[in-house]
Amino acid sequence: MASKRKILVTSALPYANGSLHLGHLVETIQTDIWVRFQKMQGHQCIYVCADDTHGTPIMLKAQQENISPEQLIARIHQEHQEDFKAFAIGFDNYHSTHSAENQALSNTIYYHLQDAGHISKRVIKQAYDPIKEMFLPDRFIRGECPRCGAADQYGDSCEVCGATYSPADLKNAVSALSGVKPVEKESEHHFFKLQDFETMLQQWMQGEHVQREVAHKMDEWFHAGLQEWDISRDAPYFGFEIPDAPGKYYYVWLDAPVGYMASFKNLCDRRDDLKFNDYWQADSTAELHHFIGKDIVYFHALFWPAMLQGAGFRKPSAIHVHGFLTVNGQKMSKSRGTFITARTYLQHLDAEYLRYYIAAKLSSGIEDIDLSLEDFQLRVNADLVGKVVNIASRCAGFIQKKFDNRLAAALHQPALYQDFVAAGKSIAEYFAACDYSKAVREIMALADRANQYVDEQKPWVLVKDGSRQAEVQAICTTGLNLFRVLITYLKPILPLTAERVETFFNIPALDWTNYSAPLCNHQIQDYQALMTRIEKDKLDAIVDASRPTTPPAAAPTPAATSQDPIAGEISYDDFAKIDLRVARIAKAEHVEGADKLLRLTLDLGTEQRQVFAGIKSAYKPEDLTGRLTVMVANLAPRKMKFGMSEGMVLAAGPGGKDLWILQPDSGAQPGMRIK
Ligand code: MSP
Ligand code: ZN
Repeated sequence: MASKRKILVTSALPYANGSLHLGHLVETIQTDIWVRFQKMQGHQCIYVCADDTHGTPIMLKAQQENISPEQLIARIHQEHQEDFKAFAIGFDNYHSTHSAENQALSNTIYYHLQDAGHISKRVIKQAYDPIKEMFLPDRFIRGECPRCGAADQYGDSCEVCGATYSPADLKNAVSALSGVKPVEKESEHHFFKLQDFETMLQQWMQGEHVQREVAHKMDEWFHAGLQEWDISRDAPYFGFEIPDAPGKYYYVWLDAPVGYMASFKNLCDRRDDLKFNDYWQADSTAELHHFIGKDIVYFHALFWPAMLQGAGFRKPSAIHVHGFLTVNGQKMSKSRGTFITARTYLQHLDAEYLRYYIAAKLSSGIEDIDLSLEDFQLRVNADLVGKVVNIASRCAGFIQKKFDNRLAAALHQPALYQDFVAAGKSIAEYFAACDYSKAVREIMALADRANQYVDEQKPWVLVKDGSRQAEVQAICTTGLNLFRVLITYLKPILPLTAERVETFFNIPALDWTNYSAPLCNHQIQDYQALMTRIEKDKLDAIVDASRPTTPPAAAPTPAATSQDPIAGEISYDDFAKIDLRVARIAKAEHVEGADKLLRLTLDLGTEQRQVFAGIKSAYKPEDLTGRLTVMVANLAPRKMKFGMSEGMVLAAGPGGKDLWILQPDSGAQPGMRIK
């Protein structure tokens, strides 16, 4: 065998503000298969990951839940680890970016970059929420699309027309946190001078460290020109304070990839056989492989190698980028019940079904991967249950009943066995190249041949002929040996099944080096069913459990729909108590700090009233001024957070944009009573 390699492998660090879903699992399953494969080759392969715990969304989520960010990330850390374990993801370490190791390493890198002149500082203007007293990340700014006017667009792109813009261009922009108009505020920021590394990055890119499609994308970025990267954020922020800039914090994406190093460092401190510097020093001969999704290539293929280089560390050997998971051909969606969390899946189905299906779909490219639930069921049932496991269940019964679980002294068809062994070479190449779908195809072609062999030999016929018992034993021994080779090849994908098969065969852990000789004259265990079929009702249950239990948006108070039941009867006298008047909207204004309300000044001819109306989602103030409407004029005044509300305007509709205020026919005059 070639010499033993030292390989450090990572998956992207999941954010600690939510549960893992099947999209995350595409990545960890892809990585885990590769790691298990490398370990089976006898290499020293170490797989580390961590939770990505810093940043504004995590800070806000903790506030929402009324807990500290530390409490939130501790809870999610526990949950993520349990989910990954259930999917048989074999991390050597799962750490956190909120750790002493990460803080120390982030500071080391920052100081190195600064000493080498790669950090600059300047004052910039940004959107600031005066109520929440914090700067607003793009996605927390909401307003109307400058191109098509669609309401409620977040950040820098329109979900309706697809336009991209700067959040500063949103019309009637408000803070998504407080509902008030953001103000511009200045503050000093720290920048990493990415452009200092352009030549190095271009050379690095040409060194086959990334897939062809990724190199192509990087070329576009080089053409567009590399920009300074803003790496600081102002308080309040959940992260690490920049040591020489009190009140400023590292932007989450600065310390996130350092989390790879930190997780490894944390492991080294517990393991005598691992030395941090062996893997990270500039001239390291160890390999460093990052598995990531296509959305975070910029961070990994530009910022990260530049940071490492600038701070005197080694650069990645390879970045393996995968596409996004779709379910039934579409983006995962809560309303369709296809936003499936790891938990929900595990409550109904075995983890290895998904591992197999993802493997069967993954290529070395970056195209999206579709989980069609129907195809998932068919494929798992046909391949794993119908082909692979079937070989064992057809042969093991005879060995048990007729031969006391003893395998024959020699194979019936040694040449067939040698064919199976020889196929391991190309299958290994496919695994190494992340072309798992091709590996799976070859393995299943072998499974077909094994089944065909058993079909042709018909042990169930021979067994009735007393003179041919030795043949039956040799045939079934051959079938089981072919099965053992198949399970060896499938072991990176199905580690739990492989373990059960090792127990069944009474053998040490299968790996890529110990199956070239067949298992003969050997005592095995009673066969236990290894895998059952996926039933349709399990898939239905998963989709049902993934649908939201509450309707997506509750209608605001004044809204009503045509589905509302008609209210109970009232007398004429009851009705006569309500004084409805025609009013002219003299003024309509935004209310600082209010999400839904507009302040209306209503003219009744003889007097003016101030009324707060929950119609901001449907009307712009300028569209209301001057219009006639209908108001309840004798409603007892109500003290609201923003002032006194002296009456009520009437509106119909389910809410949001679909809300309509009543408007009398032309000719009506302010102050007229409605009877
Ligand atoms: N925290 C950052 C990564 C920091 S790495 C130093 C992050 N977290 S994430 O939770 O949003 O995503 C983690 C990984 O899951 C990313 O590689 C991302 O591409 C991947 N996926 C998230 N949703 C996915 C799909 N629907 N399909 C496939 N992969 C997806 O980004
Ligand atoms: Zn638009």
